[in-house]
Amino acid sequence: MTMTKKLPAVLLAAGLVAGLSACAPAGSSSPAAEGEAATCNVGISMPTRSLERWINDGEGLKEKLEAADCTVDLQYADNKTDQQISQIQNQVAGGAKILVVAAIDGQTLGPALEDAASQDVQIIAYDRLINGTEAVDYYATFDNYKVGQLQGQFIEEQLGLADGEGPFNLEPFAGSPDDNNAAFFFAGAWDVLLPYVESGKLVVPSGKSPTDNDGWKAIGILGWGSDDAQAEMDNRLQSFYTGGDKVDVVLSPNDSLALGIEASLDAAGYEPGSDWPIITGQDADVANVKAILADQQSMTVWKDTRELGSQVESMITSIVAGDEVEVNDTETYDNGTKVVPSYLLDPVVVTKDDVESTLVESGFVKAADVGL
Ligand code: BGC
Repeated sequence: MTMTKKLPAVLLAAGLVAGLSACAPAGSSSPAAEGEAATCNVGISMPTRSLERWINDGEGLKEKLEAADCTVDLQYADNKTDQQISQIQNQVAGGAKILVVAAIDGQTLGPALEDAASQDVQIIAYDRLINGTEAVDYYATFDNYKVGQLQGQFIEEQLGLADGEGPFNLEPFAGSPDDNNAAFFFAGAWDVLLPYVESGKLVVPSGKSPTDNDGWKAIGILGWGSDDAQAEMDNRLQSFYTGGDKVDVVLSPNDSLALGIEASLDAAGYEPGSDWPIITGQDADVANVKAILADQQSMTVWKDTRELGSQVESMITSIVAGDEVEVNDTETYDNGTKVVPSYLLDPVVVTKDDVESTLVESGFVKAADVGL
């Protein structure tokens, strides 16, 4: 993955994004001639059904597009790259003119997408960037650097690090090494936390502490699996916390990892309300919202995937109409071949106090599903 500069991400994080709004031309595929509607035939390729967010993303987007009279083929690839490539090829062979792809591995889709682009298919990278190819027209996502920054700042505030509190025992985790987003999540958090590690206010007993942002893959959990995160946390607890030392804080980049880490802490005898550490997350999955309400998780970074769906729907509507596609970032997401015109949405911190006022009131989760 390539992170061109930190500055744009920081500016975006500071909420200056609105002022940067820009438009990009709707690519080279044949737009609708005057008075004649182009066909809206969309292939959606999602990574896996094993995570709640991707089910919501895929089904939500399909529903929106069908309501707008598009033909939609939604496929899930079981977290297997080969399967994702053949599903994309089948969608193109079946007549898809627009592809919406949440890549499993951001590096491997180039040839299949180049083939699609040569048949006038427009390609939108969904949530995760697709690297190393010209064949990606637009990128719609949340501000991934900001997701990590919100997690880092939450830890900083909860522990009073800026006021000189410490030392505290930290265990950092990172996301899947093949997911471009994971680098941004880690960089956002580590830019806040690394200075405290360097000053000794955060101590990492396991030693799994990258010395810079680029070292994140060494602590990445391939495939974002809860079980693997649990096994990793078990190892750290059994190997490095033998003398009665306790973990004070865990940097978890998302909810699936947080679930595994929480199961490990529970098995090791940690108790919510007494010695349970601060744990971060991302996605507001139902299981994690329940964990937040049960004091087993401190926060989640909520990305309202319905908004992402609406943004992608409006990109598609513009492409089909031959209009300009609205983007608000043309600097941050360099895929190694080109800077991909992007639309970044804002992520939001949710803690126990605002589950009701944010997640429930907006209809993102149902009160009954989380026991409220
Ligand atoms: C997404 C996260 C998600 C993770 C695991 C990332 O690319 O941005 O929302 O938790 O993948 O599926």
